[in-house]
Amino acid sequence: SAPGVEVHQLGARIGARIDGVRLGGDLDAGTVAEVRAALLRHKVVFFRGQDHLDDDSHQAFAERMGPLTTAHPTVNTGSKRIFKVTADKGMAANAWHTDVTFVDRVPAISVLRAIHLPPYGGNTVWANTVAAYEALTPSLRALVEDLWAVHTNSYDYAQRDEESEEPDANYSRADFAAQLFETEHPVVRVHPETGERSLTLGHFVKHFTGLNSAESTAIFTLLQNRITKLENTLRWVWQPGDVAMWDNRATQHYAVADFGTQYREMRRITVAGDVPVSIGG
Ligand code: SIN
Repeated sequence: SAPGVEVHQLGARIGARIDGVRLGGDLDAGTVAEVRAALLRHKVVFFRGQDHLDDDSHQAFAERMGPLTTAHPTVNTGSKRIFKVTADKGMAANAWHTDVTFVDRVPAISVLRAIHLPPYGGNTVWANTVAAYEALTPSLRALVEDLWAVHTNSYDYAQRDEESEEPDANYSRADFAAQLFETEHPVVRVHPETGERSLTLGHFVKHFTGLNSAESTAIFTLLQNRITKLENTLRWVWQPGDVAMWDNRATQHYAVADFGTQYREMRRITVAGDVPVSIGG
């Protein structure tokens, strides 16, 4: 293994903390390969003590994982690849989701850096969608293997919290659904790097192709409950200087909105991904 890199597994199914890596440093190929291998194996990895990062070095590290996508498909962030996730006005990402599944090429990897943390609360929880698929009985696997889902951004942050009237400081609520995206993905996707099968669902699913809304809701609820079963998740308590990186092809996540009206700011950079491929190819 690369000198100094220590991978500490945090749970049987998901999560590891990686010590001994300075993300803003000049990382050698061995270290980058080791970090990537840990990410593919543990699905979400955490780095502490990365206070030295700024937007440029955050971006430079993310680029070591692959070419970047736009910061967000509907929110204009200028030339920056950084997407600010701020939540003090009811715009928290407090629904289980995989980032941006409503586009054809779903981002592969997200790198999230803590900028401003509230004095309490504001943890993020990740779930392993590969383990969730693997735990299905053969009959449930047979049901989902041919299933496709329609994903749309009409449920993006903008329309999530009807009670909150205040616009966000950085993006207007309307930005999130300014352009409607709708796309179809297989419910079981084959991971392009590991070959593992995962359930591709989350908050942006509108319905399953060929099923009515009652059938879609019942099956969606059943599968989401499997994905978010506590044994299948890892909850991270953020500290200043923390960076989380997750495999967006093998996880969902949920930002817990339990910090009242206090300010919380994270910055996310996303690495481009592929069009999800079904078992049938
Ligand atoms: C996200 O959904 O990408 C942000 C998660 C968080 O704010 O903790």
